[in-house]
Amino acid sequence: MSKSAAKKIQAIRGMNDLLPSESPRWQFFEAKVRQLMHRYGFDEIRTPIVEQTALFARSIGEVTDIVEKEMYTFDDRNGDSLTLRPEGTASCVRAAMEHGLLHNQTQRLWYQGPMFRHERPQKGRYRQFHQVGVETYGFDGPDIDAEVILLSARLWQELGLLEHVTLELNSLGSTEARAAYRDKLVAYFDQHHDVLDDDSKRRLTSNPLRILDSKNPAMAEMLNGAPQLMDHLDDESRTHFEQLKAMLDTAGIDYVVNPRLVRGLDYYCRTVFEWTTTALGSQGTVCAGGRYDGLVEQLGGKPTPAVGFAMGIERLILLLETLDLIPEEALGGCDVYLLPMDDNATIVALTLAEKLRSELPTLRLQLHCGGGSFKSRMKKADKSNAPVAVLLGEDELAEQAVTLKFLRDDREQLRVSQAELTATLQNLVPH
Ligand code: HAM
Repeated sequence: MSKSAAKKIQAIRGMNDLLPSESPRWQFFEAKVRQLMHRYGFDEIRTPIVEQTALFARSIGEVTDIVEKEMYTFDDRNGDSLTLRPEGTASCVRAAMEHGLLHNQTQRLWYQGPMFRHERPQKGRYRQFHQVGVETYGFDGPDIDAEVILLSARLWQELGLLEHVTLELNSLGSTEARAAYRDKLVAYFDQHHDVLDDDSKRRLTSNPLRILDSKNPAMAEMLNGAPQLMDHLDDESRTHFEQLKAMLDTAGIDYVVNPRLVRGLDYYCRTVFEWTTTALGSQGTVCAGGRYDGLVEQLGGKPTPAVGFAMGIERLILLLETLDLIPEEALGGCDVYLLPMDDNATIVALTLAEKLRSELPTLRLQLHCGGGSFKSRMKKADKSNAPVAVLLGEDELAEQAVTLKFLRDDREQLRVSQAELTATLQNLVPH
């Protein structure tokens, strides 16, 4: 066999397997999210992972990092240009329009799933990553902006993260106000052309607002002196922003107004926000979003106010792990390991296991399969992490009983009849 044929095929760089030892953490997080969405009256939407390339180019913007250099785009067998979704908002708008969900009605939607961006992988930044997002349609007042921010804040609160994240807020104003501001900004940057780095020079004609987002220290002083969007807001956007801040103040949500927060996607107007943490290094934005009142119309629908956000699941799980905030009981394992000691006992154990599962529906019971010596059976029982092993050997079979062996406490083993086993386990195992 040639050397290349023998080479093992590995996962694509930046795309991770989720191993069984890690999946309980995700399930813990996902269960919290699902419950929260239910409590806030948001309905789940699931859209395809692949969409027409034009959808993302037209919504996220032709001259954004995502569309210019990060999309996984390919021609399918019909020659259509398709793209693995880099985010969920565009797909959500497409689906909502296509199925008439925006006609004379409001929507509060949420989704979860993989997104794809060809970025340079590092801690907290991957090429396949996962988002939970919410999108709302048909509400133009600041109450819904506050509502989605409160929803995210409650998630942090319930996960124990609230004190570890900061809410940054800004308003981008209306499209018209932003266009006028853009001209002022370009004039200012033109005066300081020698200080601009190459990236910024490129953006000067395509997307000058993004220059404000630059982290280049050589430009920091010049950027500090730049005209501020906040001073050029239209009256309606200013009122909207003031009302949103008042609502957050009343709700007791702390925030920092960051006049340089512009976001990397073109569809935003008015409110934009990010939840950031300092505990994850450079990839510290765990949730981000804002208002995008123009997008539905831009994609061919009727003008529809919209606001939403998305959070990065990998980053949040990393943060929960770093801060040790995932409760022990959420981390998998089972409650009982049922251990038949020979083939005869196995036949009885299969039935006994089913009986216990019927009678104790929340019990996590693992049945020993695959035979083995006494020593290897006991080793498997120990590895299951169950606190209790239920042993079924020749003596037990003869007596229609079982032996309970406590694997985590220093406690005498116990012989109970099979008829009493349900009641005994009910008392022993908390659920
Ligand atoms: P975004 O800022 O591009 O916004 O992404 C939202 C979040 O997804 C980020 O704050 C981050 O937590 C996570 N994320 C983004 N890229 C990566 C990556 N390469 N690896 C790991 N995590 C990542 C959006 O996607 C908008 N669709 C949000 C939105 C919804 N706005 C309105 N509605």
